[in-house]
Amino acid sequence: MALSTTLTVNGVRQTIQLDDPRVTLLDLLRERLNLTGTKKGCDRGQCGACTVIVDGRRINSCLALAISHDGADVLTIEGVAQGPRLHPVQEALIAHDGLQCGFCTPGQIMSAIGLIDEGHAGDDPERVREGMSGNLCRCGAYRGITEAVLEAQRTIAASARKEVA
Ligand code: FES
Ligand code: FES
Repeated sequence: MALSTTLTVNGVRQTIQLDDPRVTLLDLLRERLNLTGTKKGCDRGQCGACTVIVDGRRINSCLALAISHDGADVLTIEGVAQGPRLHPVQEALIAHDGLQCGFCTPGQIMSAIGLIDEGHAGDDPERVREGMSGNLCRCGAYRGITEAVLEAQRTIAASARKEVA
């Protein structure tokens, strides 16, 4: 039986043939679409390295079957910057030294974008830490990551206010 899934990935709609219904969204992104920015850490939902945004919600792509997201809109780290213009979360991570080896960074960025979009980031570091607790960093860059999320949230909120005014 021929299987396929149609996804819009970073704005590009495409239909991908699957030879196995058990292929995860993570493997499809990395191995079929060559979008290797999304990392495979634990492959069992425990580290957050594989975080992507599907239909506006952050998920662990290692736990998601590609076929069960037929028709979905997927945002990966490759789709976050607008050409040479970095996303406010990316800029803030650099400014606050929120990374060392960088392996967890794509997942941290996607999770932070999701958290801010959900409106749950607030201005409380504890709340940010809790909201980002599914994303582990073996280098222990948590302090910079938390500061970066708070700053990005302020930047995004300020630019939203400007647009409304
Ligand atoms: S690789 Fe998906 S949570 Fe670790
Ligand atoms: S920066 Fe190395 S794992 Fe987070």
